[in-house]
Amino acid sequence: MSNNNSTNKHEIVEKNVGLMAILTVFAISFGALVEITPLMFQKDTTQPVEGLRPLTALEMEGRDIFVREGCYNCHSQMVRPFRDEVERYGHYSVAGESVWDHPFQWGSKRTGPDLARVGQRYSDDWHYAHLMDPRSVVPESNMPGYPWLDSTKVDTTYTLKKLQVFRDAFGIDKSSDRYNGKGYGDDAELQAQVDEIHAMNGGEGATEMQALIAYLQQLGTHLK
Ligand code: HEC
Repeated sequence: MSNNNSTNKHEIVEKNVGLMAILTVFAISFGALVEITPLMFQKDTTQPVEGLRPLTALEMEGRDIFVREGCYNCHSQMVRPFRDEVERYGHYSVAGESVWDHPFQWGSKRTGPDLARVGQRYSDDWHYAHLMDPRSVVPESNMPGYPWLDSTKVDTTYTLKKLQVFRDAFGIDKSSDRYNGKGYGDDAELQAQVDEIHAMNGGEGATEMQALIAYLQQLGTHLK
């Protein structure tokens, strides 16, 4: 309610939609900045956790197959810090596990279970059977099968480039022993990883299935 003789400042805003809109945007932006900005400078959200290592060439290609096939449409990779989730999946996800995850695969929909800690939970053979035909191992599953991944070979055209971009973007120390103690890596070391893909299956090269399984098997295994 306005009163006639005083300067009611609210009225100025409430009767002027344009001004109201501008101030609303300002208020929300300010709130967002206050919440988000500190996270960009806080060490435990920007530094990799102690045991994190870069993806190998094979795992990196597996990650890209995961993205290409849209697995994230049904699977999140983010264990929330709630008791029911921790009991089901294991330790909740921490930011330092995701700092090298670009594009991150947190997802937002769980038609299937969260995969953030699925690494080493099943054997490679189980994953193989499951991805070929999910109902062969989980009769009630409504996950689609991906049998063609077993007959397509990993395309390594850009693998070396991907590893280089990854190394340089995150400033990974070339002498770092994060990669299985082997160093990660000058170009020769990275090329050696690509050659490992070519050498698989008696020199025929890795299948996309093998790359995807290698990616799945390391998920969530780095947090000590
Ligand atoms: C249409 C939804 C859907 C899509 C797309 C999908 N999944 Fe699934 N996934 C499920 C469901 C539902 C389950 C639970 C039943 C089962 O184990 O099959 C599951 C289970 C899994 C499991 C076992 C998880 C556990 O903890 O038991 C893995 C691993 C998995 N999916 C990987 C993948 C991968 C990799 C892709 C992409 C190539 C994919 N899924 C695509 C729905 C989906």
